[in-house]
Amino acid sequence: MNLDNTPVLDYQSGFGNEFASEALPGALPVGQNSPQKAPYGLYAELFSGTAFTMARSEQRRTWLYRIRPSALHPRFERLERQLAGGPPGAVTPNRLRWSPQPIPSEPTDFIDGWVAMAANSAGEKPAGISIHTYCANRSMERVFFSADGELLLVPEQGRLRIVTELGVLEVEPLEIAVLPRGLKFRVELLDGQARGYLAENHGAPLRIPDLGPIGSNGLANPRDFLAPVAHYEEVDAPVQLVQKFLGELWGCELKHSPLDVVAWHGNNVPYKYDLRRFNTIGTVSFDHPDPSIFTVLTSPTSVPGMANLDFVIFPPRWMVAENTFRPPWFHRNLMNEFMGLIKGEYDAKADGFLPGGASLHSCMSAHGPDAETCGKAIAVELAPNKIDNTMAFMFETSQVLRPSRHALECPQLQADYDSCWASLPSTFTPNRR
Ligand SMILES: [Fe+2]
Repeated sequence: MNLDNTPVLDYQSGFGNEFASEALPGALPVGQNSPQKAPYGLYAELFSGTAFTMARSEQRRTWLYRIRPSALHPRFERLERQLAGGPPGAVTPNRLRWSPQPIPSEPTDFIDGWVAMAANSAGEKPAGISIHTYCANRSMERVFFSADGELLLVPEQGRLRIVTELGVLEVEPLEIAVLPRGLKFRVELLDGQARGYLAENHGAPLRIPDLGPIGSNGLANPRDFLAPVAHYEEVDAPVQLVQKFLGELWGCELKHSPLDVVAWHGNNVPYKYDLRRFNTIGTVSFDHPDPSIFTVLTSPTSVPGMANLDFVIFPPRWMVAENTFRPPWFHRNLMNEFMGLIKGEYDAKADGFLPGGASLHSCMSAHGPDAETCGKAIAVELAPNKIDNTMAFMFETSQVLRPSRHALECPQLQADYDSCWASLPSTFTPNRR
């Protein structure tokens, strides 16, 4: 069921802007937020993504002018069908890797198709993340919001039409979408089926990172972030509204579409970004920078420089470093790294890491290129070469992730991941430098 009769697909560009948009002329009040009578008989409603008293630079809030206030809903009841994947399972320091999750054959909408993979919080504190995969073969007819966190969607297969309270976003693989905590939306499939990854950010909202000595341009540029324009549904028909609250799904039946915002202004908005527009920066001499140079978005903690969530990509790029071991180096890290692959091959792994698959390297777990990649990198005659037709990404977080029960028990968990390093030889020659 497509409740939307007048598709409006237009975008406003910028990051963190005080956007303003109205689907009817003059629907936005002028000079104040909550007049005695809002234009067109609309209700004014404040949608806050941060505490009222945060510093102004941290504030995320949007004023909504809607047909009916969100308060108009009956009691939520806990749904029988909960999210797949189960709660966190046993902790493990082991390196884990998964083959792609299969797309189900039974009818599965975007919410049915969430599978919990790992988490370091349930969302009861304003910190931590949860990681899911999603797969779907039919459009949602219900409307959903997460009270637990901001959602970062990373499609791997299938275009999505995300109809939100603030307007419509269409995203395809190699694009991402970010939906603020609490934003109501419906995901429709444009290609019949879809699969991808989801990070649910329980901490500070994502923002583009500071650039330091890089300067005022580079990495993800603000103008490439696109927010929707106002678009509303005036539908008087039953609609199920589902929310995720501390990891559990609760639902109620509305008599109208809750996607009925006619005008809005503010900076607590959904947005999309095309990863192909990332201005990739790397070495032009020797060695290569830390992978933080590939950070698209970051959710900071109160510890400067230590992220609650970094969204990092490994895009196509030229490799020109001289006298350098060019693949990602062997390392052990304080941070916890959950990786996925959207397209092609990742330059640190010869095989076993597939589009739709995933890996987890937890705090201080040693990892790096597999034996085959390492051997080639040491032997190759270095010349400029382009890593192309690829897009891997990482959700990096400062708190240890606990894999879900599903993640630890599913047949996609690879039993032999450690073996990709097993044949690394000793090449030590104490008598010859
Ligand atoms: Fe790593």
